[in-house]
Amino acid sequence: MLPQNDGGQTLSLANLRNDVIGIDTLVPLLDGNERPYVFLDNAASTPTLKCVLRCVEEFLPWYSGVHRGTGFKSLLATKVFDRAHSVVGRFVGADLTHNTVIFTKNTTECVNKLSNRLDFNGEDVVVTTAMEHHSNDLPWRKHANVVHVGITEDGHLDLAALKRVLEQYAGRVKLVAINGASNITGICSPIADIAEWTHAAGSRIFVDAAQLAPHRPINMFENDDPRHIDFLALSAHKMYAPFGTGALIGPVDFFELGDPDTVGGGVVEVVTFDDVAWNHPPHKEEAGSPNVVGGVALAEAITVLQSVGMDEIASHEQDLLRYALTKIKALKGITLYGPTDNLTDKVGVIVFNIDGMHHALVAAILGTEGGIGVRNGCFCAHPYVKELLKVTPQEDRELIQEVLAGNKTRMPGMVRASIGCYNNESDIDALVDMLARIVHREYKGTYVQDVASGAFHAQGYDFGFKKYFPFFDSVEPAYHRNYSEAS
Ligand code: ALA
Repeated sequence: MLPQNDGGQTLSLANLRNDVIGIDTLVPLLDGNERPYVFLDNAASTPTLKCVLRCVEEFLPWYSGVHRGTGFKSLLATKVFDRAHSVVGRFVGADLTHNTVIFTKNTTECVNKLSNRLDFNGEDVVVTTAMEHHSNDLPWRKHANVVHVGITEDGHLDLAALKRVLEQYAGRVKLVAINGASNITGICSPIADIAEWTHAAGSRIFVDAAQLAPHRPINMFENDDPRHIDFLALSAHKMYAPFGTGALIGPVDFFELGDPDTVGGGVVEVVTFDDVAWNHPPHKEEAGSPNVVGGVALAEAITVLQSVGMDEIASHEQDLLRYALTKIKALKGITLYGPTDNLTDKVGVIVFNIDGMHHALVAAILGTEGGIGVRNGCFCAHPYVKELLKVTPQEDRELIQEVLAGNKTRMPGMVRASIGCYNNESDIDALVDMLARIVHREYKGTYVQDVASGAFHAQGYDFGFKKYFPFFDSVEPAYHRNYSEAS
């Protein structure tokens, strides 16, 4: 059955927006009014689809632990959960006779798992890029010599430099680890070509598809195809199913070898006091009771995306991106980063700064006076953002000292608006209207900056969270240091 909305209509781009939970949720504005929240922070995390929640609700009466019980509910839940793995694998074009789909918590956990499972020796090199999220950089640094391939002037991966690095480290490259789409500029690197070069160099490729999977069709290709993607990871919370699941797809033979990175229940065939025989993937890599509900939700979200059509989604998001960039470019005093004309290899992520204004101030005004959700800062990709901003090494050293001394007021960054498949021109218009006000300094509040976090807040204004979420608890979180809201 094709996924349907509340009214029994098959979901399509035309009616998907109304299937987004919270699409009409009113949020408070500084002037005392309310407006429906404008959700333009999809690169961080997406809202949930009603049909995904409906699937979860239908499933919950049947919920039970999987792979262990003998009762009807356990047997049914096991079938549903196991099937969810196949849905994910087919979504990314994986050949499931040779590949396994491992459910994790998120993409970060996938990369850490893979980095723990690759058998590195002291000479091994992981080739990654200067445009990665920290998740596709820091785990490799724990295990290997990491080489970061640089970027071109407009933020693309320097493909000539990548080829040179593959030659320079011939015989030592254990893995090429690259994102499918950048969470900063939205740039999609040519992963099939890079896979081909990587295989020709005798290595394997991992693709962080967290920002690609919700926006473009993906094909991992057959394992014997030179363009084959060896390993790929994605996150459900960026795919309209934020129930705590990620997936790592890779060769079953690879995960048969060696010890699992996390051990405990579920990962074994037999255990004695002296010995253990591991279960087969994916069970071997899903230690403990898995997140069954998260897996079911991810599978349903994928079913919806496929039913709506990934090509249709890509085309809609491209139109919206072009619409947004045309309007933003018409405003004076805004610097956009990354490609703004040739958009074919870019998902719907827009990063910018307003001349003379702190990125955190702009983001605060958008949220407080416009009811618009964006993100600002370095987006967990500090090196890439600093390259795009052309922060000099000397400036960087000074800024790092300030940050380590507890002062984030000058932390460099940008404002990011990111598009999902349910966004429409009215969302973009709301953003552009607010930006027009901000560039003319026609915002209303007086904003003060918090030194420790770098965030701005409208002086004397209280969001009144309790009114909107009755379960809201005003007890302060137990952080020992102020958490950076703008990292
Ligand atoms: N990685 C997510 C982002 O870019 C959280 O915002």
